[in-house]
Amino acid sequence: MNNQSPPSPQVSTWSQRFESALHPAIARFNASIGFDIQLIEYDITASQAHARMLAHTGIISPTEGEQLVAGLEQVRQEYRAGTFTPSIEAEDVHFAVERRLTELVGEVGKKLHTARSRNDQVGTDTRLYLRDHIQQIQGHLRQFQAVLLQLAEQHVETLIPGYTHLQRAQPVSLAHHLLAYFEMAERDWQRLGQIYQRVNCSPLGSGALAGTTFPIDRHYTAKLLGFDGVYANSLDGVSDRDFAIEFLCAASLVMVHLSRLSEEVIMWASQEFSFVTLNDSCATGSSIMPQKKNPDVPELVRGKAGRVFGHLQGLLVLMKGLPLAYNKDLQEDKEALFDSVVTVKACLEAMTILLQEGVTFNTARLDQAVNEDFSNATDVADYLAAKGVPFREAYNLVGKVVKTSIAQGKLLKDLTLAEWQALHPAFADDIYAAIAPKTVVSARNSFGGTGFEQVRQALATAQAKLANPKG
Ligand code: ARG
Repeated sequence: MNNQSPPSPQVSTWSQRFESALHPAIARFNASIGFDIQLIEYDITASQAHARMLAHTGIISPTEGEQLVAGLEQVRQEYRAGTFTPSIEAEDVHFAVERRLTELVGEVGKKLHTARSRNDQVGTDTRLYLRDHIQQIQGHLRQFQAVLLQLAEQHVETLIPGYTHLQRAQPVSLAHHLLAYFEMAERDWQRLGQIYQRVNCSPLGSGALAGTTFPIDRHYTAKLLGFDGVYANSLDGVSDRDFAIEFLCAASLVMVHLSRLSEEVIMWASQEFSFVTLNDSCATGSSIMPQKKNPDVPELVRGKAGRVFGHLQGLLVLMKGLPLAYNKDLQEDKEALFDSVVTVKACLEAMTILLQEGVTFNTARLDQAVNEDFSNATDVADYLAAKGVPFREAYNLVGKVVKTSIAQGKLLKDLTLAEWQALHPAFADDIYAAIAPKTVVSARNSFGGTGFEQVRQALATAQAKLANPKG
C-alpha cells in the first residue's frame, strides 16, 4: 500500500434530497472503487444480463435493451484498453460503470438501474467473481497434486522416519508421506467444489431488500449468468455472506495444509535433519552469513497462512451482529476475499514450484536415519505376538530390551541371537530380516498403510483421480 492519500473526489450531491455534497474525506472513506474495481467485468456481465431481462419482460423496449448491452460492452472494451479508468468520484464500481454507460449511450443509460439496487448487484458480482476464482484455485490444487504425485512415484521405496510427537515412531515410505498431502489437497479440491454449488445461486432481483414492483424474471437473469438457482428470499439474498465465509474457511484449510508441509520442509532442510537440500532456484541467502541458504518460500507460505485465517475471523466478526438486510459493513467483505484469493493462489503456485525443482531428498541421509534408531521396536513386539506371545507381554519385553540396548549403545539389529533368546525363546534367526527397515515398512500392508503394495495402489488411485476431470 502506498501512503499517499488518493486525490480529493469532486463530490456531487446524491439527489435532490441532499443540499450539500459529502465532505471530501468522507467521500474517500466511503469509496470502495480502489478495490472493487476488480469486480468490473463481473459487474458489466451482470448488468448486461439485467438489461436483457428488462427487455425480455417488456420493462424496457428491445431497442433500449440492445443499446444498454452494446454500451456496456463498450465500457468493457474501454476498460480493457485502459482508456476508462474510473476515479474515486464514482464511489464504487457499480456507479462507475453506470455513469460511463450513460456518458456513452445517453439518456437510455439511466434506465439500467430499473428494478435493481446496488445491494443485489454487489451480491451478484461477488458471487460471479468467486465462482471464477474457486475454479482457478481448484486448477492450482490439481497442479500441486500432480507434482506431489510425480515425486511420490520416484520415492516408493525411499524410507523416511515417521514421527508421532516429533519422536521417531515407525519408518514409512516417502511416497506414503507425500501422498498424505495429496489426500489433503484432494479434500480441499472437493470442498471448494461443494462450496461452488452454494456460491452459484443468484441474488439478482432481490432489489434493495424487499424485491421490486416491476415484473422482473429472476430465473431469466440467473440462467443467462450460469447460476444454478436463485435466492428464495430477497432479504437473505442481499444479506448473505455465508458463501464468502465458507470460501474463506476452505481457503484457510488449504493454507493449513500448505503450512504443515512448509513446516516439514523447513525442518527437513535444517542441518539437524538434512533430509532435503534446498536448490538455488527456490532458496535465498543471508545478507551477512555467507554460508546460509534459507527456506524463505515455505516460511512465507507458513506466514501467509495467518493472514488468510485473519480474513476468515474478520468476516465472521463482521457478520455476527448485523441486522437484516444490507448494511454498509458488508463492503468490508471484499478486501478479505480478494486478498485470500491472491494469497492462496500464490502459495499453491510457490509450493508447486518448490516441490518440482526446489528440494532434493537426500536418500543416503534418509537411509542412514531409518537405520539409526529404535523405530522397529513395534515390529519386534509384533514378531513375538505373531508367534503367540500376548501383545502386551511382548511390548513389555521389548521395552526392557530397548532400555538395556540404549544403556549399551546398541541398536536392536546389533543384538546376538543368544541375547534375543535369553529375552524370549520364541526368537529365531529370522528376527534380523523381520526388523530391517524395508521389511517393517513393506509389512504394513493394511489398507491405507505404508506397505509398498498399498502405496502402489494409492498411487494408481491418485493417478486415476487426476486423469478424471470430475475428480
Ligand atoms: N460498494 C457497496 C458494497 O460493496 C455496494 C453496495 C452499496 N449499497 C448501499 N446501499 N450503499 O457493499
